[in-house]
Amino acid sequence: MRMYDIIRHKRDGLALTAEEIAFFVHGYADGTVPDYQASALAMAIYWQGMDDAEVLVMTSEMRDSGKVLDWSDLPGLKVDKHSTGGVGDKTSLILAPIVAAAGVYVPMISGRGLGHTGGTLDKLESIPGFQVHLSEERFRQVLASTHMALAGQTEQIAPTDRKLYALRDVTATVESIPLIVSSILSKKLAEGIDALVLDVKCGAGAFMKDAQQAEQLARALVKVGKRAGKKMVALLTDMDQPLGRQVGNALEVVESVEVLCGKSNGVLAELSFELAARMLVAADAFVDLAGARQKVRDLIGSGAAMAKFEEVVAAQGGDPDSLHNGTGLPRAAHARELRAEATGIVQRIDAEAVGMAAMVLGAGRSTVADKIDPAVGVSLHRKVGDPIQKGERLATLRYNDAARIDAGQARLQKAYVIGPEAVAKKPIIRQVID
Ligand code: URA
Repeated sequence: MRMYDIIRHKRDGLALTAEEIAFFVHGYADGTVPDYQASALAMAIYWQGMDDAEVLVMTSEMRDSGKVLDWSDLPGLKVDKHSTGGVGDKTSLILAPIVAAAGVYVPMISGRGLGHTGGTLDKLESIPGFQVHLSEERFRQVLASTHMALAGQTEQIAPTDRKLYALRDVTATVESIPLIVSSILSKKLAEGIDALVLDVKCGAGAFMKDAQQAEQLARALVKVGKRAGKKMVALLTDMDQPLGRQVGNALEVVESVEVLCGKSNGVLAELSFELAARMLVAADAFVDLAGARQKVRDLIGSGAAMAKFEEVVAAQGGDPDSLHNGTGLPRAAHARELRAEATGIVQRIDAEAVGMAAMVLGAGRSTVADKIDPAVGVSLHRKVGDPIQKGERLATLRYNDAARIDAGQARLQKAYVIGPEAVAKKPIIRQVID
């Protein structure tokens, strides 16, 4: 078999055979297929697409290029959630303890933030002492004892995807649905889960800005995941404006704790609780959604979900006392208010621009090598549809480095659009695909 022929077949619109896909994935993993041929194939896939059978083979081959974790010695179905990424998206910190408190195992492997979007690992690392680098043995111990574990992806999980994703990133081939599906699912299936709830974000701050494309991606993920034998459901959710009111690592932990303690009932709570309920149903802990939703409310009301979060924080080396009122978490030394320049209604808050403002302050990375400042970020006092008077506070920028604040403020200023018209609040969940 020759890589040349595989590229030609895809270029000419043919479906690749399982053997051809395996030849490519193995060859790319061991270096016998060079980057220039892999990038030519990625571009051919970008233009010609792949059918579901091809995507399933690609996913399985990439999953099997590394270690596939196995938790079958623990009882019941294991469930995780994957978000395509957004600004202020801290639902993992809320839903994982809820689901674990209901007795379902959640082996959660998360990523770091890059660009305008944040990452769960960075948020967790703002908790003093919290350890996201767990050996497989330690991960298993934490999972077995607390029903959840939160760790970073190791080099052994779907290593070919890591290599191919880096190549796609520099060859303009990221935006290909078959390649995105096989990339996301190869990593998630390697986690050893039985069920996956997807939060596919759509809007200005999302990877998929176009609603139709987001829906196409969600449908493809659900379909291929099901064909791989997993229970799948996807929620298409709004990411035009940031999720919740805090953007920045320690700030988002504080906001998550408020939701876990039942002190906040806005859209962040609404989405996190719905995702948690869907996870409980996907894991067969409940047959009906109404029962699962009630269970979620009970676990919040009784304090069991927050107690579970404290338990896992302690199990992973963190200081649970730091979470109380956020007093033990890193805090920025300075704050600057962003005030409204006109009276009216908030028409728009561009999530990407808010994410970039937080990144400029040091909350995110522009390259993978950048170090982040866990304390800094943006607090949003007004959201879309809220009335505002000229001179009132729209948001607060929290910062440590005075050299960054003007650039951060300029970005945030551009994010807010104020106008005279009333704005209908959009639902956070646009559609459910199962
Ligand atoms: N996220 C991934 O993990 N892979 C992609 O291809 C795109 C987004």
